[in-house]
Amino acid sequence: MSSDTTAVADFGLIGLAVMGQNLILNINDHGFKVCAFNRTVAKVDHFLDNEAKDTQIIGAHSVEEFVAKLKRPRKMMLLVKAGSAVDKFIETLLPHLEEGDIIIDGGNSNYADTQRRYEYLTSKRILFVGCGVSGGEEGARYGPSLMPGGNPKAWPHLKPIFQAIAAKAPDGAPCCDWVGEGGAGHFVKMVHNGIEYGDMQLISEVYQIFRDGVGYTNDEQGDIFAEWNKGVLDSFLIEITTDILRFKDTDGQPLLEKIRDAAGQKGTGKWTAISALDYGMPVTLIGEAVFARCLSSLKDERVRASKALAGPSNCKFTGDKAKLIKDLEQAMYASKIISYAQGFMLMREASTLYKWNLNYGSIALMWRGGCIIRSAFLGDIKNAFDADKNLESLLFAPFFQKATSTAQDGWRSAICTATMLGIPVPALSTALSFYDGYRTARLPANMIQAQRDYFGAHTYELESSPGNYLHTNWTGRGGNVHASTYDA
Ligand code: 6PG
Repeated sequence: MSSDTTAVADFGLIGLAVMGQNLILNINDHGFKVCAFNRTVAKVDHFLDNEAKDTQIIGAHSVEEFVAKLKRPRKMMLLVKAGSAVDKFIETLLPHLEEGDIIIDGGNSNYADTQRRYEYLTSKRILFVGCGVSGGEEGARYGPSLMPGGNPKAWPHLKPIFQAIAAKAPDGAPCCDWVGEGGAGHFVKMVHNGIEYGDMQLISEVYQIFRDGVGYTNDEQGDIFAEWNKGVLDSFLIEITTDILRFKDTDGQPLLEKIRDAAGQKGTGKWTAISALDYGMPVTLIGEAVFARCLSSLKDERVRASKALAGPSNCKFTGDKAKLIKDLEQAMYASKIISYAQGFMLMREASTLYKWNLNYGSIALMWRGGCIIRSAFLGDIKNAFDADKNLESLLFAPFFQKATSTAQDGWRSAICTATMLGIPVPALSTALSFYDGYRTARLPANMIQAQRDYFGAHTYELESSPGNYLHTNWTGRGGNVHASTYDA
């Protein structure tokens, strides 16, 4: 073996797009030697000669050389496009690996793919880890939130590196801990992204009320968001919203107002909504946030509809502006509580199904810093799970019971205002509907059951004997044979 291929690197990273490069530089800053590799090999030399110049980072020009340069057990992270590229790289690496080597997928992979890869690689005696990485380019460079899950035997080898490079919460705790087996890490990252969609939608709804209902300028709105960032809404997304509102294009006009109102999406929010449907969990706010992006993308159709469909006669707010600002702060805060409660409900359901044994307090801590949804509020969620790790719902935590109860008047009033002005607030209002539904001991589902039994003999249970399914011949015309009961 030439000195060129001596196993000297503590960590290997494949994929030199900006996230990959920044993560390598971050790992290097913490005293670990990293070997870089990229499918287009010229990129390796370019990286070594530029961004990685004067560091201890090394490179490889082939998979063989890459693997040979890693200390055992080899720890290598893939930061390539989610999907078939991950499978292809795994197959390319496999013939060169030994039992106990560790492959980490740091992309935004679907947790079901991660679960499948984990099972496949376990059969090959390779330790596979699917790791959620959040925080964008800056997070990768100076401290991301890391959500690793997969084969737990890999964790002791990764822990020193991952916890060193991860963001730190205000109390100094690393925003990285072991999430759980199989696809757990990518599932938690997916829910993070779904919540991110929800937070962004809530902010956008409030922005539209300010812009179209009240007529505030972008600078005026920027001042309100800046003020909110000092209170219960203190978060990265509120902070960047302030910057975005105040940002001027070269002509001095707000750039935001020139951006086409058609939101893109890469799929993680949609996957969260699909999982919610699959597991029967009412994660309504994320669902609405995904659909709001879908509606926004029907731009041309909406422009036609704006000329064809009538709105309310008065669409300008004439009430007490100071009160509306307070109401909207409460509405956004309460809706966030609902969204996070729903996200944790989904994780709890998946954790039970997959036996992941998720630690919700540590998930809140992992999201406390470094990631896109980082906020002061996640500290309160962590405290709630620290006080009761088996908390059935965040809404049962005394802190959040009090918060929603205090917020509800403003929340209801803000939604009424938006509705009367004809401004859509799907996320704010679905949150309130969930809150009201969740706190209702007797919902109207008895009517649905009766209708199902009436037209299709689908049976119903009586309040007095749950679990005992009955059928009634409602019209006297149908027979007494009933359909079987099953839950989708
Ligand atoms: C993160 C982000 C990131 C994601 C963006 C864009 O945690 O750093 O979640 O992983 O790529 O949120 O997602 P969409 O294109 O779906 O909006």
